[in-house]
Amino acid sequence: MERTVCALYSSAKLHGIDSSITALPTVLAKCCKLYWPIRDDRAILESMIELKLERGTRQAPTLVEQLVRAFSSAIEEQTLRAGALLPSVRRLAEAESLSTFTVTEAYGRLVSMGLVTARRGSGYRVAARGRSERVRAVEWQPPSLTATWLLSDVFADHSVPIKSGCGWLPNEWVNESGLQHALRAVSRVPSARIADYGHPYGFAPLRERIAEQLDRHGLPVDAASNVLLTAGATQALDLIVRTLLRPGDAVVVEDPGYCNLLQILRLSGLHVHGVPRTAAGIDTDVFERIVIEHGPKAVFLNTTLQNPTGATFGMASAFRLMQIAERHGLWVVEDDVNRELAPPGAPLLAAMEGLSRVLYVGGFAKTITPALRCGYVVAEREVLRELARTKMAVGLTSSEATERIVEKVLTEGRYARHVEFVVEKLKDAHALVEDRMDALGVELFRRPRAGLFLWGALPIDPAEGSAVATRALQHGIWLAPGSYFRPDDAESACFRFNVPYSVDDALWTFLEKTIKGF
Ligand SMILES: Cc1ncc(COP(=O)(O)O)c(C=O)c1O
Repeated sequence: MERTVCALYSSAKLHGIDSSITALPTVLAKCCKLYWPIRDDRAILESMIELKLERGTRQAPTLVEQLVRAFSSAIEEQTLRAGALLPSVRRLAEAESLSTFTVTEAYGRLVSMGLVTARRGSGYRVAARGRSERVRAVEWQPPSLTATWLLSDVFADHSVPIKSGCGWLPNEWVNESGLQHALRAVSRVPSARIADYGHPYGFAPLRERIAEQLDRHGLPVDAASNVLLTAGATQALDLIVRTLLRPGDAVVVEDPGYCNLLQILRLSGLHVHGVPRTAAGIDTDVFERIVIEHGPKAVFLNTTLQNPTGATFGMASAFRLMQIAERHGLWVVEDDVNRELAPPGAPLLAAMEGLSRVLYVGGFAKTITPALRCGYVVAEREVLRELARTKMAVGLTSSEATERIVEKVLTEGRYARHVEFVVEKLKDAHALVEDRMDALGVELFRRPRAGLFLWGALPIDPAEGSAVATRALQHGIWLAPGSYFRPDDAESACFRFNVPYSVDDALWTFLEKTIKGF
């Protein structure tokens, strides 16, 4: 009996339960709750915190946010004491019918808030009191908003609690079952079949699937000679720049336009000219003037759900753009990574003009996961051969193992159903965020109800844009200021809002205070 009580005291301590001698009945009661239903993590959790997850309503915060809030207040109120062991990711996911990605993301956030510690082999525990108090006393330390942080360090620094400025989908929206299935299937492929470098153009069956996908969008291509697989759409853009352009050449981009593309072009020593992006394409009059004045070799565009504005090309602008490109002999680089998330019917430049003038770039970052780093470029046979040579020179083949996984997701991973799910989730999140923006007088460029982004002008002095973003970061909010998407870095009152990451009340409270000046 004595040994049993001692064991109970030690485990009570382990679980953060007050184990002073006067608290013996409580200890016994709580330990019984902890041990008796050991196979039922929901019961364990409910004995410690109240976890009422709201699902299916548009107003509800994301499940990750709900978990983070429930755990943080339990830790704050000391219902969960220092050292208490949280249920394992798998068990909590099972008990609450959540995806393991949701629980992992929530635990990750608690770790970055300093409330929980994670140790390999011993799971997640409430951080030692001293540590979490220290973290709270010093407050969260914001990184400084520099170009370096935005471009590369941010991928290593997930500490910012509210990521309204980021460019990716929430981890919990990933096609988990499709991916798990694909990973299992690829793990069974005999290693002799995936041991070498693979084909310079990439895994042939995936090129076939891409050709089928493009055919459905109205672009018939030959999988064998028109499709080159790359390490993400980013590498496709880089290969195009390296192959078709030389330092000192002029190019045209959309203003505002995709920020990472601007960096690739600058690194390559190109002269970059911005053409205003409109709600239905680009300003084609300005485009023609730039073309006549600067003789650019190429124009880079996002046809559907543009990054950062969320706008999609209309037929009139697309048609006129192609006429100008044809007349002046420009390459058109159509970066179309969002097409699968867009409503059908948007013009596809490569289909309008054929591949003699257009290079088409796509990827799977938005529909499968950016983690696989798999994208592609579609081009006319001879151009593709040159692109493949550049690919081999700068990086050899792309990863066939990865390409096999993507191919499996496309064929056996309920891909279409998952894309529908993401489209629906985005639609709901857009409605919610639009309401918050309207209430604050944020002027929206477009209301696409699709894709990842909304581009909104805050009622502030445009010269203040970057300063607002820097201040936001001090409050744990990552905003993407307009200047970041402009070829001349010009200040702007506009910001790119990642819609699923912009539902947190703290973001809107900060923006309201900023706008109203209190
Ligand atoms: C317009 C655009 N092009 C390219 C990319 C890069 O895609 P990947 O992750 O496949 O390199 C992104 C990613 O956000 C994007 O928005």
